Amino acid sequence: MFSESALAAWDPAPFRTALKRAGYTAARLDELGLKSLTDPFARVAVVSRTFPHDSPIVIVSRLFDAGEPVSGLHALALFGQDLEGLMRLGLIEPLGNDLIRSVARLEADGDGWFACDHLAALASGKTDYTMGIGMSTRLLGALMPVRSGDRVLDLCTGGGWVALHQAAADCEVTASDLNERAIGFARFNARLAGGRPVEFLTGNLFEPVEGRRFDVITCNPPFVLSPGSTFIYRDSGCRGDSLCEQLARRLPDFLLPGGIAVMLLNWHDDGRDESSQRPLSWLEGSGCGAWLFRGITHGPAEYAQRWLRESGRGRAPDAAEMDRWMDHFREIGARRIHSGFLVIHRGDVPWVRSDARSLGKLENVAGPELRRVVEGQAWLARADPSEDALLEARYTVPAGVHAQTDLILDQGWGARTIRLMSPAELSYNGQIDEFLLRLLALCREGQPPSAMVAELRATPRFEHMAELAPQIAGLVRELIGHGLLLPAELA
Ligand SMILES: C[S@@+](CC[C@H](N)C(=O)[O-])C[C@H]1O[C@@H](n2cnc3c(N)ncnc32)[C@H](O)[C@@H]1O
Repeated sequence: MFSESALAAWDPAPFRTALKRAGYTAARLDELGLKSLTDPFARVAVVSRTFPHDSPIVIVSRLFDAGEPVSGLHALALFGQDLEGLMRLGLIEPLGNDLIRSVARLEADGDGWFACDHLAALASGKTDYTMGIGMSTRLLGALMPVRSGDRVLDLCTGGGWVALHQAAADCEVTASDLNERAIGFARFNARLAGGRPVEFLTGNLFEPVEGRRFDVITCNPPFVLSPGSTFIYRDSGCRGDSLCEQLARRLPDFLLPGGIAVMLLNWHDDGRDESSQRPLSWLEGSGCGAWLFRGITHGPAEYAQRWLRESGRGRAPDAAEMDRWMDHFREIGARRIHSGFLVIHRGDVPWVRSDARSLGKLENVAGPELRRVVEGQAWLARADPSEDALLEARYTVPAGVHAQTDLILDQGWGARTIRLMSPAELSYNGQIDEFLLRLLALCREGQPPSAMVAELRATPRFEHMAELAPQIAGLVRELIGHGLLLPAELA
């Protein structure tokens, strides 16, 4: 699908103009209140009820959102002479009786569109189904810690949404995937977006980039712990979480010194492991820094139901299929299944960090924040600063760190709590006390944390408190690890 030569011969400009003229843009669909509708069939139903049946937005939505056949004459009125080009390209195919249909779903997204398979392909069990922009796609996109000019690898790129955003951030991007069909979509998406070129490669895991190194690697692998290999996008065919383990163990070899890899993952435990941090053990002895973020934990039945509902387009899974998944979980000893992400840093000194918190919707600023956490942790591991050094240094506080106070109606009707949030609410979102807020405020004014020690020492409560300085130094250490205080050399 979408051969390189056909794509090179295709001029996407008239197609983009026709889609915009039809009103098939993310902004217009948002105005129509359709952004929150995740089911394309529901979206098309609303559009069809709102506009005349032969209006451009109805034709385009039926063709590209729902994958329905439409009249060739209607399509000709929309795309003019370009319709022939779309057929040569393989995006549109004739069905006979003046009917045509689109081979790909085109999701209006941002300022453009993203092509993937129609949902019918998922329901029919098409093994090489290429997914659209999923929650995991957007999560990885929000987390990517890229800077202009970085050499970046997007492994398991699918239709290339993350890779194209990396290219738009002015990175030199290589993107690879096992599924040739997905790479076809990715090439089409790159041509349609018309931005900086991306190197697309096909092959198993690291095979296509063997011997190469990158500043940043992002990876949204087929992490689902499923009993078979129904879909390439979801099932690795490996036992349990062993594909994620294999990836985590190999990623350091493909990072340049100072490089950062971010991979999404699912992993399981037997229900007795309180910390649920097994993925960190995969990096023991690697010499790398490692940060594990656990977002959600599911029980086996809930997990199986969630994934079976997705492939069944929301229908309740049948009992035999549920049994097959539950038998599999029993066999691999999975009592709890965790979802999250793993960050790997190829620095000078290893370090480890782990967080467990449900992540809300991340904003795009999370990438720089992820980098600040990594650099803060690496700095602490490398510099190993003494208590005095921590207390006498000057720091900056990143823009966007904010706090809010909440009034909680406790039994006495009136507890006030302070919540501190990092800019993207990734590295910190939790309650703090007034002392910590004061410490941040002093550092923000350019004073060293020792000023806080002196301030407290002047009060009767803390005048003789021996552990005051070590405690404040401990807080400074924690704030650096959260990327909330930046030592001068990291600012
Ligand atoms: C969860 S999808 C992610 C797609 C895309 N990166 C995104 O975030 O939307 C996983 C991707 O991994 C690819 N994949 C599966 N097994 C692979 C393998 N052994 N080597 C490389 N890619 C693989 C699938 O084809 C699919 O595109």
